[in-house]
Amino acid sequence: NTIFRTDYQAFPFDIPEVKLIVELDPVQTRITTQLSVVRKSASAELEALVLNGEDLTLERLTLNGQPLDPSRFSQDDARLTIFEFPASGTLEIVSLCKPAANTSLMGLYVSGESFFTQCEAEGFRKICWFADRPDVMSIYTVTLRADKGRYPTLLSNGNLLSSRELDLGRHEAVWHDPFPKPSYLFALVAGVFDCRELTMRTMHGKEVLLQIYSDPGTFAQTGWAMESLVRSVRWDEQRFGLELDLDRFMIVAARDFNMGAMENKGLNIFNAAYVLADPDTATDLNYQGIEAVIGHEYFHNWTGNRVTCRDWFQLSLKEGLTVFRDHEFTADMMAAGLSAQEAQSARATKRIDDVVVLRNAQFPEDSGPMAHPIRPESYQSISNFYTATVYEKGSEVIRMLHTLLGEQAFRAGMDEYFRRHDGQAVTCDDFVDAMEFAYKQSKPGVSLDVFRRWYRQAGTPRLTASMTDNPTEGTVSVTFTQSCPPVGVEKQHSLQKEDFHIPIKFGLLDESGKAILLADSDGIADTKTLELTTQSKTWTFKTSSSGKAIPSILRDFSAPVIVDYDYSDVELSVLSAHDNNAFTRWEAGQELATRHILKSAAHWRETEQPLAASKVLINVWQALATDVSLDSGYRARAMMMPSEKTLLERMLVIDPVAIATARDGLKRDIATALSEVFHQTYLGQQTPSEYSPDPISAGRRALKNLALNYLMVGNTELGSLLAQAQYANASNMTDRLAALTSLTHESTNTLKQSALDDFYQSWHQQPLVLDKWFSVQATAPDATADKILALMQHPDFTLKNPNRARSVIFAFCNQNLSGFHAPDGAGYKFWAQQVLTLDKINPEIAARLARVMDLWSRFIPQAKTAMQHNLQDIASQADLSGNTLEIVSKALAL
Ligand code: ARG
Ligand code: ZN
Repeated sequence: NTIFRTDYQAFPFDIPEVKLIVELDPVQTRITTQLSVVRKSASAELEALVLNGEDLTLERLTLNGQPLDPSRFSQDDARLTIFEFPASGTLEIVSLCKPAANTSLMGLYVSGESFFTQCEAEGFRKICWFADRPDVMSIYTVTLRADKGRYPTLLSNGNLLSSRELDLGRHEAVWHDPFPKPSYLFALVAGVFDCRELTMRTMHGKEVLLQIYSDPGTFAQTGWAMESLVRSVRWDEQRFGLELDLDRFMIVAARDFNMGAMENKGLNIFNAAYVLADPDTATDLNYQGIEAVIGHEYFHNWTGNRVTCRDWFQLSLKEGLTVFRDHEFTADMMAAGLSAQEAQSARATKRIDDVVVLRNAQFPEDSGPMAHPIRPESYQSISNFYTATVYEKGSEVIRMLHTLLGEQAFRAGMDEYFRRHDGQAVTCDDFVDAMEFAYKQSKPGVSLDVFRRWYRQAGTPRLTASMTDNPTEGTVSVTFTQSCPPVGVEKQHSLQKEDFHIPIKFGLLDESGKAILLADSDGIADTKTLELTTQSKTWTFKTSSSGKAIPSILRDFSAPVIVDYDYSDVELSVLSAHDNNAFTRWEAGQELATRHILKSAAHWRETEQPLAASKVLINVWQALATDVSLDSGYRARAMMMPSEKTLLERMLVIDPVAIATARDGLKRDIATALSEVFHQTYLGQQTPSEYSPDPISAGRRALKNLALNYLMVGNTELGSLLAQAQYANASNMTDRLAALTSLTHESTNTLKQSALDDFYQSWHQQPLVLDKWFSVQATAPDATADKILALMQHPDFTLKNPNRARSVIFAFCNQNLSGFHAPDGAGYKFWAQQVLTLDKINPEIAARLARVMDLWSRFIPQAKTAMQHNLQDIASQADLSGNTLEIVSKALAL
């Protein structure tokens, strides 16, 4: 059941038109599907028409109005095959599906009282029989019929053609989408909703209607989403010259949703968590997430919908590119209205956040059993390939193209891509070809041949640097060497891997931290973009200074690679204090802390004592805390502890408790040494009581709340007082939740319980806030598997709502290192139980949870054995979903 990229075959038929009549009923929905079918080559012999279908009941089948004789077709649980289909014909299928019983949240399902759909990647086949693959594109006309009282709003893609009353209290709406689209972009929604709407004029003066639908009573919480949508429309016009092509663009919020959101043509369906916000219920992070996801889905209208994927191996064609676009959108929004220098630091802040995500989620993926290139070579279940690699590394690959080509040629390449492929279903190669065309126009002689390897090779390349000074000639030489051994399935194929094309933004500092200018045949600059396309290469620069230089490597994180350079602690502290690139400056401080934690973890394993933090490290944190010339949001990132996930990834043999202990130890050392500094920082970062999610205010809150957290550790008495006061007086959710988290994670039981109780009493009627209440408890340092099981007995807990399941189960398994990895193995057993229970309800979510064990084989022996047993337990279950089976069998095969 493995599907290979190289096995692609075109579908033998076109289906130019699809007409659906949907009689909505939660128990049983009847759908009449009318397809116009045309064989692609008229001369070919009569071929069978094979349609996909899942969990459907066939009621009637006619061809050109005549019922089909049972001998002319066959049906199994995945396919409907019509033998010897003529050169053309109209096929009509009447089928039934069961929306209320559909807990997978793929296809047509009921959430709350309303109907929603999710079709990407292969959900349309759960709605009706169809050629459910992205290279079959059709024009849809959709008739929706439902009880008018229960479902007053009836929505589908495109434009509303007509609506009318029917008998028995029912009504009908007919929607028509003028753009041919693959079935994965189909959507329908029916129910009772609040609607916020606005009309705006696009760049060419066309008037368009923007609408946001959400649960009754939530109108006041959709203002930020609407503002974000308007900014998205404007940004795509200004940065890429791309205009909204429909008369009407709708977003609907759903409580139960597997992922973040979905870019269905003209009718985006969103996880409510990425739509609803007000200062009382949403944090700064929520506000930022909403803007980013609204942007992301909106940008898909061009990169995804107008130009779509030929097959699912090409997923990164639309996802990598659209993530790159949403990252740039956020960066532009953060930098808007700032001075050049402030803008640089705001952009760096966004870059840091994105790199942290990449390292937490993608680097481990790239070294584990699910490792795959951004364009996978094979898969069993495509829904398992909506991964950090396809999305985040995919975006990094696009960013490298942007770095190599420059903004202008990159834009020319995008224009060329749309000129060539608008309205088509294409491949990643088609995209790179268009970019290469533009690249060559701007710089004759260049080639992306080596660059294309990023699409077919997995793994995180490791870059080793070495430097030599030649004082007599006044030059410095730097040599970069790359390596990337086979990972994941590459190992089984003993693949001969080739060198990557790696752009390395590089600079030098002298020992006092002053930038050294670099001269070569291209001119003089303080940052050079070096292109490594072979295993190893040396560059020599004439420099302005003598003496030992400190290299600043991978400025702006110019490639998704790991850098190895043997810095001394003092060199890292110089970089942290002085590098003129805000990203590498942040990196230096984090690297210093990471090295200390790794050493301390090793020490703890020998002696049961963590190592005390060095003076150098404490001074670096103090310098960051007191440097008021730095933007607050940037300082908050710089003074954070390195994340647990990045630390684990840096350990050859992973000892989670050692890492947790060493990390806590460093945090305590810094907190104790600098408690007065943190107190001052806390007091210095007040914001106006009128809430605004702008990046400056959000940065101040982030720094203030980080200081509060350190203070809770370094001076618990003062910290608790401040945290209690902040909790009681907070005028927004960001400050309230930060205070609650510090109180519950760093303080005694009595304080903890009363704050949690109060929070529940105040907010339990808001599902998204309740998720936060659950998460705070699931990530508490004293949480155990038993406590989590008890928490799941709470009447407000349900496994059926993915957000709720994530807020407890995923939070515990992914974000609670010491709790989940408790040496008694209870966490692993809990994990296995939950994977199995979820697998019956929602296989896609179960398979995500299954991935928690990806790195099991690299853990210390006791943990490793316990993890393996639990994996085997799951793998031995008889009726496991294909989704979960793929994950556990790949994990065990390693
Ligand atoms: N295309 C959606 C996005 O923008 C994700 C949809 C994934 N759906 C799924 N069932 N895995 O990112
Ligand atoms: Zn996407």
